[in-house]
Amino acid sequence: MKFFVDTAEIDAIKELHALGMVDGVTTNPSLIAKSGRDILEVTKEICDIVDGPVSAEVVALDAETMLAEGRKLAKIADNIAVKVPLTWAGLQTCKALTDEGTMVNVTLCFSANQALLAAKAGATFISPFIGRLDDINLDGLELIEDIRTIYDNYGYDTQILAASIRSANHMSECAKIGADVATAPPGVIKAMANHVLTDKGLAGFMADVEKAGIKIL
Ligand code: G3P
Repeated sequence: MKFFVDTAEIDAIKELHALGMVDGVTTNPSLIAKSGRDILEVTKEICDIVDGPVSAEVVALDAETMLAEGRKLAKIADNIAVKVPLTWAGLQTCKALTDEGTMVNVTLCFSANQALLAAKAGATFISPFIGRLDDINLDGLELIEDIRTIYDNYGYDTQILAASIRSANHMSECAKIGADVATAPPGVIKAMANHVLTDKGLAGFMADVEKAGIKIL
């Protein structure tokens, strides 16, 4: 499973990138607003760090303006994936940009039917939002499973980019299901390293190091 980092914070991207943990980056208008940076400027900076796909989201609601915005975003770098919402206008924009050879990430997906439409429109990525479904007492991981089944049934090339990931558990569950990509905030990716038995085991080893005076350097 590829790891994308869901942030527009440059330092966090650099830290994870240095460890080989970043196969791509996703941003959205809320993350850009949080960064306090100009969208074109910060997106360019991210593209200079990361070789993999960098998702930058349009802000218009009509297809014509979305397409113009998407074309402008696509000019930032070769690894831009233009992110469009899963609306009818977004699907029209997806088809047009895909036909021009631009990668497209269709976002705000909450149903298998929406994912099916995105695949038909040629999306490079579909972004089903796990956490936001869980928030309203639905099952986000079940949606990932359903989309995996549908895409595999018909051999769609669209990659499942599990989004709105809120916990380390979401990451391993997505990997078990076979999501192509999972995008998560830096804190969630780092939390994957945590285990209470690792901490307990290390504390025991350190006590013995102290007792026996073990030194390596
Ligand atoms: O980029 C979309 C996404 O991952 C949103 O996550 O936590 O705001 O639902 P969240």
